[in-house]
Amino acid sequence: MFLMRRSRCVVLKSRPNPNVDLGNFEMENRNLRPMEQGEFLVKVEYLSIDPAIRTWINTAASYTDAVPIGGVVRSQGLGRVLESKNDKYSVGDIIVGWFGWQEYSISNGQDVYRVKEGKFPISYNLGILGLAGFSAWWGLNKIGMPKEGETVLVSSAAGSVGSAAGQLFKRLGCKVVGTVGSQEKADLCLSKYQYDVVINYKNTDAPIDEKIKQACPNGIDVYFDNVGGVTLDAVMKNINTFGRVILCGTISLPITAAPPQGPRVERTLLIKRAKMEGFVILDHMDWYEHAYSEMFEWVNNGSLVSKEDIFVGLEKAAEGLVRLLAGQNLGKQLIKI
Ligand SMILES: NC(=O)c1ccc[n+]([C@@H]2O[C@H](COP(=O)([O-])OP(=O)(O)OC[C@H]3O[C@@H](n4cnc5c(N)ncnc54)[C@H](OP(=O)(O)O)[C@@H]3O)[C@@H](O)[C@H]2O)c1
Repeated sequence: MFLMRRSRCVVLKSRPNPNVDLGNFEMENRNLRPMEQGEFLVKVEYLSIDPAIRTWINTAASYTDAVPIGGVVRSQGLGRVLESKNDKYSVGDIIVGWFGWQEYSISNGQDVYRVKEGKFPISYNLGILGLAGFSAWWGLNKIGMPKEGETVLVSSAAGSVGSAAGQLFKRLGCKVVGTVGSQEKADLCLSKYQYDVVINYKNTDAPIDEKIKQACPNGIDVYFDNVGGVTLDAVMKNINTFGRVILCGTISLPITAAPPQGPRVERTLLIKRAKMEGFVILDHMDWYEHAYSEMFEWVNNGSLVSKEDIFVGLEKAAEGLVRLLAGQNLGKQLIKI
């Protein structure tokens, strides 16, 4: 006899107007449909809270479809296989996939991968060894291509992507400068992530471009951009000839409203023979295993470190997102279910 399983989930109740707030979400308790041949049931243990969720719950132009009203909020999660009708996945396998904000998820194995256990929390597979760390690895290796001794600036330097990027650049012998939104984050970057200099952009004692100029007296060779907006404008005033700008994120820009007009960059790019290139990491998953095996070793031997900011309870997922967008997370924002 089939026993109906219930699963608590967080669904999208309304679209942000314009900011994401707790009222945009509601908890529901839904029946799980029966599993079909080729599928397996996952008990979700951790959810990855990402700035991109803000984009996915809006209808503004994006690289993917918007979550529908009433739909379970999209996110990556880590969980264990509870029951399986799929030959490739067995009960007990620890996997990462697009499980959404819910306790249980049924998967057919698409866009799912198994993770390895090591001398670190298994949840690192959603952060430093997940898409965040992989984004840092990809941006550095495929766009930034830094050389020893070059000056690199990383924005949101204490965040999940930023803290990984800062350390990866440092491994290659670069001078690494970060921008962050609090003194606590600045201290973390200096003490834990090996940044050489950190700028708190919320400290308004001098304009950001002057602070950057002071921190980078030889100019900037590579900018790993997690935020866009005025920080990018300030970097462009200090970019070196043959500089590279890696466009990873634009969290400082509004999603639905027209972004504020900034200075034009085409002449700077031309005169400096600089390049600016964006990427969406999901386009490059064929490189993930390669990056994972490289970074796994470094995380396992403690030479690449990470910090997590974990909320407990599915009902805290929306709060986690609001908090992340307000810059209140200190490390990779996760929800433990
Ligand atoms: N291209 C891709 O495929 C890809 C993949 C993963 C992530 N990303 C992007 O990478 C960036 C970092 O993601 P993450 O997961 O590592 O998040 P995170 O950096 O851990 O957390 C977000 C941080 O953004 C900063 N922030 C928030 N509002 C800001 C504002 N108005 N101006 C400047 N900074 C602001 C805050 O740090 P401060 O307090 O320091 O300001 C906040 O803590 C995001 O833009 C994300 O969308 C892109």
